[in-house]
Amino acid sequence: MKTSRRKFLRYGLGLTAATAFPSIWTRKSVTGYSNGDIEQRLSIGRGLEGLTKNDLATPTLVLDLDVFESNLEKMSRHAKEVSIELRPHAKTHKCIEVARRQIDAGALGVCTATISEAEALAEGGINGLLITSEMVGRDKIRRLVQMTRNHPDTMSVIDHPDHAKQLSQAAVEASLELNVLVDIDPIGRRTGVSAGKPAIDLAHYAEKLPNLKLRGIHSYSGPSSHVTGFEERRAHSRRVMAAPIETFFKLQEEGLPMEILSGGSTGTYNIDPEFEGMTELQVGSYVFMDVDYRIIGGKSGPDYDDFGQSLKVIATVISKNHDDRATIDAGFKAFATDRDFGPDIIGISGITYRFGGDEHGILQLDDPSREVKLGDRLEFVVPHCDPNVNLYDRIYCLRGEKVEEIWPVVGKYV
Ligand SMILES: Cc1ncc(COP(=O)(O)O)c(C=O)c1O
Repeated sequence: MKTSRRKFLRYGLGLTAATAFPSIWTRKSVTGYSNGDIEQRLSIGRGLEGLTKNDLATPTLVLDLDVFESNLEKMSRHAKEVSIELRPHAKTHKCIEVARRQIDAGALGVCTATISEAEALAEGGINGLLITSEMVGRDKIRRLVQMTRNHPDTMSVIDHPDHAKQLSQAAVEASLELNVLVDIDPIGRRTGVSAGKPAIDLAHYAEKLPNLKLRGIHSYSGPSSHVTGFEERRAHSRRVMAAPIETFFKLQEEGLPMEILSGGSTGTYNIDPEFEGMTELQVGSYVFMDVDYRIIGGKSGPDYDDFGQSLKVIATVISKNHDDRATIDAGFKAFATDRDFGPDIIGISGITYRFGGDEHGILQLDDPSREVKLGDRLEFVVPHCDPNVNLYDRIYCLRGEKVEEIWPVVGKYV
């Protein structure tokens, strides 16, 4: 997809030719383009030709297309080899173009965490949506009904009879059917009904309600995904997924329409297909990867490197007055983390990043493998890709040094 100015305006970047920078394009050899400058460039039909990553204002979010495409290909090949379907989680990327490419590579559709992600992706032509959070409350139910009217294959999840009843009533009023999966919590952590009798009772209850179409089970074990060590991760997932899978088979035996058992993550993509019963994987982070995944360990070593680090933030050294440290223009507003580590610097060893505030990051120059100078543009692997993408409005997609495309980040607002 080539990015047009219209698309930017549609997805809320909100810059028009009038508010951008009219004179800048008449000068030659200008570098350091802000998002607004690039907007202006697109609006006057200059496209992205000649634009490189070194022209982008920092901090900026970039995607290495070669690595990204290889990640897509690898997951798709794996799914075919082990005979499992993919419905990748779009909470990672919030991006129509990524979803489209996942579907082109064979995915059934994509998952979303929020109704706004689902709406934005549906508007961008994505079908096969599964909203993996409970759509509770009048506003969300109304929007779910609206989405289903336009995209009848949309699915969402239930974990309580009262919620099932509310969805059924809304569906009857709207004269349509809502597709639902019973959300089973494998580990007592977040949403979901317990496996066994509570889930079985809920499934039977939902199946009898008018205008609800029961499709199967949703069961996602977040805690399994980041267990360190492949064998430990496998044992964890096997242990916690046993009860939801048993429940799924029991419901099938009882004659309920159980066509889908959806779950899994990037950390368990090569584990969960071993479990008989799983029909589809909700893998998310594999497209981009991050520090959080790198450090969990893979099948063959201490780094999990089944998928490449395609997503990066470029930042600039804005202060260098000390031998042992430098300051960059990327802090909490550039890197999201819910863990006790920051981003990984790429291509230089002997440097540790620590957050230095909203707009600042401190590089501790312990034993840098090369000199760090004022004005240097440095690249970083993000700590946790999902919330990191959410900090930005657009992803600059690179082929080598060249900016090849710009993909808007959508569905950011509730
Ligand atoms: C419900 C659900 N499914 C799937 C995923 C994808 O997990 P990952 O990004 O670890 O592949 C997530 C991520 O948080 C999730 O919340």
